[in-house]
Amino acid sequence: MKKVILTGDRPTGRLHLGHYVGSLRNRVIIQNEGDYDRMFVFIADVQALTDNAANPEKVRQNVLEVALDYLSVGLDPEKVTIFIQSQVPQLHEMTQFFSNLVTVARLQRNPTVKTEIKMRGFGEEGEQQVFGSGVPVGFFTYPISQAADIAAFKSTIVPVGEDQEPMIEQTREIVRSFNSTYGEVLVEPQILLPGNLVCRRLPGTDGKAKMSKSLGNCIYLSDTPEELKKKVMSMFTDPGHLKVEDPGKVEGNTVFTYMDAFATDEDLARFWPEYKTLEEVKEHYRRGGLGDVKCKKFLLAVLEDRLAPIRDRRHAYEKDIPRVYEILREGSAAAREVAAQTLREMKDAMKINYFDDQDLILEQSRKYQ
Ligand code: TRP
Repeated sequence: MKKVILTGDRPTGRLHLGHYVGSLRNRVIIQNEGDYDRMFVFIADVQALTDNAANPEKVRQNVLEVALDYLSVGLDPEKVTIFIQSQVPQLHEMTQFFSNLVTVARLQRNPTVKTEIKMRGFGEEGEQQVFGSGVPVGFFTYPISQAADIAAFKSTIVPVGEDQEPMIEQTREIVRSFNSTYGEVLVEPQILLPGNLVCRRLPGTDGKAKMSKSLGNCIYLSDTPEELKKKVMSMFTDPGHLKVEDPGKVEGNTVFTYMDAFATDEDLARFWPEYKTLEEVKEHYRRGGLGDVKCKKFLLAVLEDRLAPIRDRRHAYEKDIPRVYEILREGSAAAREVAAQTLREMKDAMKINYFDDQDLILEQSRKYQ
């Protein structure tokens, strides 16, 4: 079976370190290893519109921001097809057919949809109102459209963050249902999560559970060195670690969580040679006598080392925006071809290929002779 990698992001803001450790970094590694038949990365503007219907300009602006983020982390349009969801209309036809295979009850059980509906406050608090009349139908059914995004390319591997697990599960169900109802056309995808557990959900700089634009606790890939420094130096640590001599807690200490997500022993050798391993740093911190500022300075050096090349690449692409759009245009055309082929196979299996079906025409002609 072919190995097809696919993943995407909603263009509702610039991408941040949570996206980076949760998925982007993995994508570039996979791309460079080259062990796949085809790789797609796309900008899910249609999905972004499901809860931004009144704000298309925000989505429109962020399509470019996300494209720049993709290119700046090192996704290479020569190796990866980068496209915009709305430019592949076949996805929406597929969504319609898939909708008939999914019940309202099943959508209501999707944990991601549940949490998101609560977060966005479409309805009042409480289970009764969660799926009440305030939720846009398009938002409620977006897992179905996400299944189409994945199935259209016969994707086998979907590298995403942990929060997307229920979406992949639901996609697998839809694929199974389609195949058993109409015939084996589609492929069941597997999720690919980051191996390093701290990378699955990176906390915000304020120590809150998740880095998220709405919480204002993000470090963006496009932050300037000054912004980065400010954010790192004011990061949440251990509130009980008041004096340098005090013993400190490493668990729940954002600076250490980020070190776990980013820093390697080579980084220590380069930027903080007093320690050989992160474990040594942690021991010293726990024991007392290691100040937060020193830890933050090390973290800053590591993050700056990772972000500097990303920033430079971004600046180069920012100077040639028409080229970025050209990359997206070409990628979208290539994606359309693949999706159109899958859609043809689906319609054949569903027998809604009237004009290609000579048997049907013959059979019905006979019936009326
Ligand atoms: N739901 C994903 C997110 O919020 C974006 C997305 C849409 C996606 N379609 C997808 C991710 C298909 C992977 C595969 O980030």
